[in-house]
Amino acid sequence: MAKRALASAPGKVILTGEHFVVHGEPALAMAVNLRAYVEAWTGGEGFRIEAPDLGLTWRGVGEAPKPLAPLKLLMDRLLEETAPQRGLWVKATSSLPPSAGLGSSAAVAAAAAKSIGAALSEDLPKDEVFELALEAERLIHANPSGVDPMVSTVGGVIAYRRGEGYVAVEAPIELTIVVGFTRSRGPTGSMVKRVEELARRFPEVMIPLFHAGGHLTLEAAEALREGDLERLGELLNVNHGLLCAVGVSTRKLDELIYAARRAGALGAKLTGAGGGGCMIALCREAEADRVAEAIERRGGRALKVRMDREGVRLERVEEG
Ligand code: MEV
Repeated sequence: MAKRALASAPGKVILTGEHFVVHGEPALAMAVNLRAYVEAWTGGEGFRIEAPDLGLTWRGVGEAPKPLAPLKLLMDRLLEETAPQRGLWVKATSSLPPSAGLGSSAAVAAAAAKSIGAALSEDLPKDEVFELALEAERLIHANPSGVDPMVSTVGGVIAYRRGEGYVAVEAPIELTIVVGFTRSRGPTGSMVKRVEELARRFPEVMIPLFHAGGHLTLEAAEALREGDLERLGELLNVNHGLLCAVGVSTRKLDELIYAARRAGALGAKLTGAGGGGCMIALCREAEADRVAEAIERRGGRALKVRMDREGVRLERVEEG
């Protein structure tokens, strides 16, 4: 019997520790209320992958276009276990802008693993979804730390360390975060390479910076647990300084960050890989609209986000 399964997974913002997490330091990440949706159906003839947001379709012949390769990989992996009688069609849509530092590719991968698994009659547990999504992320950039697929899979706020996993960080208060999109893309792979290259050339300078980023994340997690927003905001500002030092900020990101701080944000920094993409501003609720307006006046696209608790989830499974 054919099955149609729909799953979704949230994007994320990195509160502290991006890039340093690639080098073994902890990072603090929050799943946000913007989701990617992937539908998988075993009733269609042959194999097919569609991403209407990207204007791309692969009809099962030849190589899949590069942006669809992670979905093809997930299809192949899950088909190794169970082959459907007719075929497998997969369709991905997302409310997350791609290459913006908001974890769109990881959210699509986590939702795809869950929905394809369900369409092939497997209810994959979260640890398997994470492993599959991480494998798919490796096609996007060579050396992912795993923080994006982990937070998309488990939801909430997590402190994550590569190779060790995560701990959930419970905050006594809801965070108000305004995201500012520079309207230009941030190429994760090349930004990660740029930091690796600096570390290779100046290890004595860069390694202590990475460690400082790791300590900063531990302090930030503590501030969050205590609901100390002022301290958390200060740490976000310091974190942005470290990210400037490793060469991943841009003039546009800095402009949006300074505009947000001037408008009353408790702290602001770039989020994700940098080189374009997004910044975040931690605000008191009363200040959030003013901060969003300041970001828009500077040419950014502002968006207020909330934490998503749930992570990846199956929306529905139907026979037929
Ligand atoms: C991207 O969201 C975060 C980076 O640290 C890369 C990674 O951890 O894989 C820049």
